[in-house]
Amino acid sequence: MLKHYLFFFERKFLHIFALMLFFIIISTLEMIGVGTIPILLSVFINPDAIEKYFPFKNLIEIFLQNDLKTQLFVICSLIFIIFFLKNCLIFLVNYYKTKFFLNLKLDLTRKSINKVIRNSYRFYLVENNAVLIKYFGTDITRTITYLEKSLIIIQELLIFIFIVFLLIFTLPTSYILILLISVLSLLLFYNISKNKMRKLSYLSNINITGLMKNINQVYGSIKEVKIYNKFDFFENKIVGLQNEIQKLDFYSQIINKLPKIILEIVSVLALIAILLFSFKNQQSFVEIIPILGLVAFSLIKIAPSLNNFAASYIQMKAFEVSVEQIKNLLSNTNFTFNKNIKENNNNFSFNKKIEVKNLCFNYDKIKKKTLKNISFELNKGDMVTVIGESGSGKTTLIDLLLGLHDNFQGEILVDGKNILRNIFQWHKILAFVPQQVYIFDESLKNNIAFGYKDSDIDEKKIAYCIKMSELENYVKNLPEGLNTIVGDRGKQMSGGQLKRLGIARALYRNPEILILDEATSEVDNITEKRILNNLQNLEKKLTIISITHNVKNIDKASKVIKLSQGNLVK
Ligand SMILES: Nc1ncnc2c1ncn2[C@@H]1O[C@H](COP(=O)(O)OP(=O)(O)O)[C@@H](O)[C@H]1O
Ligand SMILES: [Mg+2]
Repeated sequence: MLKHYLFFFERKFLHIFALMLFFIIISTLEMIGVGTIPILLSVFINPDAIEKYFPFKNLIEIFLQNDLKTQLFVICSLIFIIFFLKNCLIFLVNYYKTKFFLNLKLDLTRKSINKVIRNSYRFYLVENNAVLIKYFGTDITRTITYLEKSLIIIQELLIFIFIVFLLIFTLPTSYILILLISVLSLLLFYNISKNKMRKLSYLSNINITGLMKNINQVYGSIKEVKIYNKFDFFENKIVGLQNEIQKLDFYSQIINKLPKIILEIVSVLALIAILLFSFKNQQSFVEIIPILGLVAFSLIKIAPSLNNFAASYIQMKAFEVSVEQIKNLLSNTNFTFNKNIKENNNNFSFNKKIEVKNLCFNYDKIKKKTLKNISFELNKGDMVTVIGESGSGKTTLIDLLLGLHDNFQGEILVDGKNILRNIFQWHKILAFVPQQVYIFDESLKNNIAFGYKDSDIDEKKIAYCIKMSELENYVKNLPEGLNTIVGDRGKQMSGGQLKRLGIARALYRNPEILILDEATSEVDNITEKRILNNLQNLEKKLTIISITHNVKNIDKASKVIKLSQGNLVK
């Protein structure tokens, strides 16, 4: 637990110390509150008994000079003040604590999304997106709950310790023994159930990820699901997973309810034991009543406290899996991009040429090299076409040129400067159309101006990009023109239209270099020719690197790079 604390609270320890201090004050007041009950009872039964409980003799004498009514009034007022103060403090602490954890959650979300976005591209190749979604959907919330509960158990533990302290000093040893046995039996039970909870939650976590993964998969392959009539297959799979999750949930809910039940039974047993014990020792009622009052009132205080402690503790165990996952995400540096490379980010420009030198690359866990010793050069203003059979490594080569990978051998130099050392500047001057263009469920305009606020969007530039990517006719027929929502993953667009939208998005960035991964493959021949013409005759002269299947358009290229099984063949 402590290691999680150190990790998540980091520089916020001052807040935690402040909270602890408050907890201690509250617990002290709690103790005094409980302690006043037997005093009150004793004084009712035997007014002189007050001397026994109160240490300051002078004050007592002054106090005893008053009549009984006044004495009672003073005691009751004191009790009221203590309870009032305590509750005000509890309110303040809760206010502070709630705010603290809300801020912490925001902080954690920021850190996590930062990590996810900034991690090297390799991270996305190995991590399933259901896991990524789960980080933000469940794991962060559970981590915060875990930390919150950990404070609650400290708070409850303090109250428990303080009251037990009070009991130890006021009760005979035999009573304490009875209470001790009760507490130990409770602890034994918690210990058994906590491990069970951890296991249940671990399994439930796996199933939740599986459920999300399957829903994603159905959604992604909905056409195949329908055509191949795979309704039952997916229905059974998803309902099966949900059933597993619910079963595990059922067990954990049952286990969660148990502490309260067991606690109550043990408390009553303890009280009865004490009562019987007192009678056996032939103590008089007058003696027993204040003590029983103390025990009963202590139990009333301790019981919910212990219950809260146990429930929180068990829930912490259940959420520990999520905590470890978030911690792992945040502390894992295996995917840090450019970890061993010093970036300098200055004096970077592209005026002459790009040199690719002895590029070798293989994907994680795959021994065979995907790219083998690739070297070539291209000049500013070139139109380079990359061809080669499917699987020959074209996309991989482009990904390397884009600076998505940092774990390759060889160098990519722009005017003699390594792109990895100037990654930020390099990305500033290039634009890219991926093999699969991703469309947001937003307006066409927002889709073209990728990551710009509405107020920052330049409509003239949008119109220009639409013209250059031959999307004008498409836009003309849209019900709300540029403001039409084009739908989640572009379901409302054809493959060719998607590609052209990708080109418009790339052009909106005013690039010097445009990299296209089969960007025109789904576009008809005439349109493709027109787009390539447009791109070559832009106001600003572009350098274009384009993967293509359509060998007919090679004649436009000033340079052809042919790949075969990861080798450069031409
Ligand atoms: N993320 C990956 N992990 C492992 N192997 C990959 C990955 N992506 C592609 N490959 C493999 O690398 C080779 C080249 O792939 P790719 O560059 O996509 O080819 P192309 O774009 O020419 O069709 C293929 O054999 C492919 O199976
Ligand atoms: Mg490809």
